[in-house]
Amino acid sequence: MKVLVTGGAGFIGSNFVLRTRQTRPDWELTVLDALTYAGNRDSLAAVEDDLTFVEGSVADEALVDRLVADTDLVVHFAAESHNDNSLDNPWPFMEANIIGTYRLLEAVRKHDKRIHHISTDEVYGDLELDDPHRFTESTPVNPSSPYSASKASADLLVRAWVRSFGLKATLSNCSNNYGPRQHVEKFIPRQVTGILEGVMPKLYGAGANVRDWIHVDDHNDAVVAIVEQGRLGETYLIGADGEQNNREIIALILELMGKPADWFEHVNDRPGHDMRYAIDSGKLRAETGWTPQYQDIRAGLAQTIAWYTDNTDWWSTSRAETEKTYQRLGR
Ligand code: NAD
Ligand code: DAU
Repeated sequence: MKVLVTGGAGFIGSNFVLRTRQTRPDWELTVLDALTYAGNRDSLAAVEDDLTFVEGSVADEALVDRLVADTDLVVHFAAESHNDNSLDNPWPFMEANIIGTYRLLEAVRKHDKRIHHISTDEVYGDLELDDPHRFTESTPVNPSSPYSASKASADLLVRAWVRSFGLKATLSNCSNNYGPRQHVEKFIPRQVTGILEGVMPKLYGAGANVRDWIHVDDHNDAVVAIVEQGRLGETYLIGADGEQNNREIIALILELMGKPADWFEHVNDRPGHDMRYAIDSGKLRAETGWTPQYQDIRAGLAQTIAWYTDNTDWWSTSRAETEKTYQRLGR
C-alpha cells in the first residue's frame, strides 16, 4: 500500500513514520512536509533511505494533486499545532489547517483515494473540573482558540465531503500527546529541556488545568487500527484515561529529574485557556480492540526525559528561538 503522510517531519507524524517502518514494513511511504519551524528532517534520519521525502505545503494545489494521484491512502497530520502561536498570529493556522485540508479532500475526491484525518479533542471546547462527562464522538464542536477553531473547521469539511461526495474518509480526535521528538514549545518538553538547562518550569496561571495525556506511540497505533479496521465515514476519539492537572505533571517531572517539588514559577496565563479535556475512547476500543501500551504516565515520562537528555542537539537551537517568543508573551 502506498501511503502519503502529511506533516511527517513533525512530532506525531515522525513518530508515525518511525513506528510504521517497523510495524508495517510493506507500506511504501511518502512524506509531504513544509518544514516549518516545527518540522525537523533529523527526526526521520533513521529511516531517510526507506521513504520519499517531499518538501512542500498541503495548501499547494498542484503538488497535492500530483502526490495524491500516486497514493492509496493519505494520513493527514500536517497542521499548525500550537495554541499560543494561534493567539499571536492566526493566519498560518487558517492556511495550513483549513485550506490545506480542503486541497487534500479535493484531490482525494478527484482520484478516488482514501484519507485518514488527524484531529484533536480541543475541537469540543473544554469541560468543568467536576463535570462527570467526557468527550464522545457525539459531543458538539465548540472550539475556544484560533487553533482549535481551524481544526474544527477542517473536521467539518471532512464530514461534509463524506456526506455530500461519499469520500472514503475516517477521522480521529486525540487528546494531548507526549513523547520523544515533540517541539520544545509544548508543555512537557519545555519544562524538561528547561530543567536540563537549569531553568525553572513555568506554570500558566494556577496550573489547575487538566489534560488527558497519551503517549505518542499509543496515538499512532490507534491511527493504524482505524486505518485497518475503522468504518469509512466514522469519527473515533483516541485517549488513554490519562487525566492529570498541570501542577501534577510538573511535580512528576521535578521528581523524575531530581529537583525540589517547589522548584517552579507561575507565569501569565494563556488567554481563553481551556480548563479540562477528557476522552471517552470506548468506541475505538470496542471496534478495533486497541488499548494503550503506556498505562503509567510515570514510565512514559521517564522515557521522554531520557530522550531529551540524550538528544540535546535535536532541541537546543529551537529552544533558544522558542524562549524568545515566550519572553515577548510574558509566558
Ligand atoms: P507539529 O507542530 O509537531 O508538526 C506539524 C508538522 O506539520 C510539521 O512538521 C510542519 O512542518 C508540518 N506543516 C505545517 N504546516 C504545513 C503545511 N502547510 N504543509 C505541509 N506540512 C506542514 O504537530 P503535532 O503535534 O505533530 O500534530 C500533528 C497533528 O496532530 C496535527 O494535525 C494536530 O492538530 C494533531 N494533534 C496533535 C496533538 C498533540 O498533542 N500534539 C493531539 C491531537 C491531535
Ligand atoms: O488536546 C490536544 C492538543 O494538545 C493538541 O491539539 C495541540 O496541538 C497540542 O499543542 C496540545 O494543546 P495544549 O494547548 O493542551 O498543549 P500545550 O503543550 O501548549 O499546553 C498543555 C497545558 O500546559 C496547557 O494547559 C497549558 C499549560 N502550559 C503550557 C506551557 C507551554 C503551562 O502551564 N506552561 C507552559 O510553559
